[in-house]
Amino acid sequence: MLAKAPRGTRDILPGEIEKWQYIESVFKKLCQNYDYNEIRTPIFEHTELFTRSVGEDTDIVGKEMYTFLDKGERSITLRPEGTASTVRAFLEHKLYTQAQPTKLFYYGPMFRYDRPQAGRYRQFHQFGVEAFGSDNPSLDAEVIMLAMVFFHSLQLDSLVLELNSVGCANCRPLYRKEIEKHLLKYKNDLCLDCRKRSETNPLRILDCKEDNCKNITREVPGIYEHLCNACNEHFSEVTRHLKYMDIAYKLNTKLVRGLDYYTKTAFEIVDPLLGSQNSLGGGGRYDNLVEVCGGNPTPAIGFAVGLERVLLALGNKKVDLDFREKEKIFVATIGDKAGLEGTKLVMELRKNDLKADKDYLDRSLKAQMKQANRIGARYVIILGDEEIEKNKIVLRDMQTGDQKEVSIQEIVKTIKQEIN
Ligand code: HAM
Repeated sequence: MLAKAPRGTRDILPGEIEKWQYIESVFKKLCQNYDYNEIRTPIFEHTELFTRSVGEDTDIVGKEMYTFLDKGERSITLRPEGTASTVRAFLEHKLYTQAQPTKLFYYGPMFRYDRPQAGRYRQFHQFGVEAFGSDNPSLDAEVIMLAMVFFHSLQLDSLVLELNSVGCANCRPLYRKEIEKHLLKYKNDLCLDCRKRSETNPLRILDCKEDNCKNITREVPGIYEHLCNACNEHFSEVTRHLKYMDIAYKLNTKLVRGLDYYTKTAFEIVDPLLGSQNSLGGGGRYDNLVEVCGGNPTPAIGFAVGLERVLLALGNKKVDLDFREKEKIFVATIGDKAGLEGTKLVMELRKNDLKADKDYLDRSLKAQMKQANRIGARYVIILGDEEIEKNKIVLRDMQTGDQKEVSIQEIVKTIKQEIN
């Protein structure tokens, strides 16, 4: 039987990978303009890092982690997200001793053991940014802006930015009590997961997608009345900045996010056209996490975007990405000497930053022209022993059918001129 990729994972093949590379380059360029530097952390970490930071009562830690004992009997987990690893690296390498804020971005595979469906995979890819060392609301606005500019650069203009404040350690417990009071009479009507949540983290019930739980929480008052002065002021400054920068947002008082580390600002970017997995990205402040991980109190904020969901959204909208593949040049040869000269010429073209290929199967000239067509070559250079003797090789534009004779010395220059 032929082997298959594990459930919830996918191969990204040539033909599709170009889109990935394009989107990756858009994100990287944007981060550079915003002065965020790339960080690459390991794909696996000590399990404890995630239980401590993401939170033991979250779905991610409770149900979705790929955790195993390695040969040294250490509990290891494939990273389910990027924030915890970035915080660990920030502390381990004392990045806080450098000029603050520390602004980092990352890109790579994440792993969550969940039931696969459209837009939900067991191995998926996130772009993320994390900024440490400032609790200034203008940094919240910058991080949100970066996310929105990224989507706009991909022509994803109809996304909705949902915004909330989840308060802090001072005010959230009061809100939690309020929710507990409200849910008391409905406890047995909640879904099984929410019954557990009502013991461990009742705020998460607000985020439940089950219709019955949604109905029950509909009348729960928003958190705003319970925010302390500091959180209230911070949130109104964040919204003032967003308004000033013309970033539209929708308040969603039920937005609590699925990870426990958030404080104050929380946001999600949602595509109304996608089904149940409609969140393209999300993030928020996590002012206590650095301390929870053993560092000095350090405010921080970040977000992550799921690349597979971005591609789904682009597919739904049939957005034509403005990325140009490099034009291909095929070197076709007839004869022994020409074969050798052709190999050299292919190398020369590549050395000059051109994309070039040749025949490797001893094909006839006719078959080589067919091959050039199949691989989508824009130009074919035809080399025969006679042409080499006369120092006149043929350059054919496959799109227009035009042909001209060029000397070997001039060929690189001529093709470069043609391409531009
Ligand atoms: P998250 O909301 O868990 O946040 O994930 C961010 C994004 O990753 C989601 O909006 C979604 O696009 C994508 N994603 C999550 N799970 C899957 C999956 N199973 N399959 C496909 N895509 C998925 C975080 O991970 C936080 N670390 C974000 C953050 C950074 N907060 C502060 N800094």
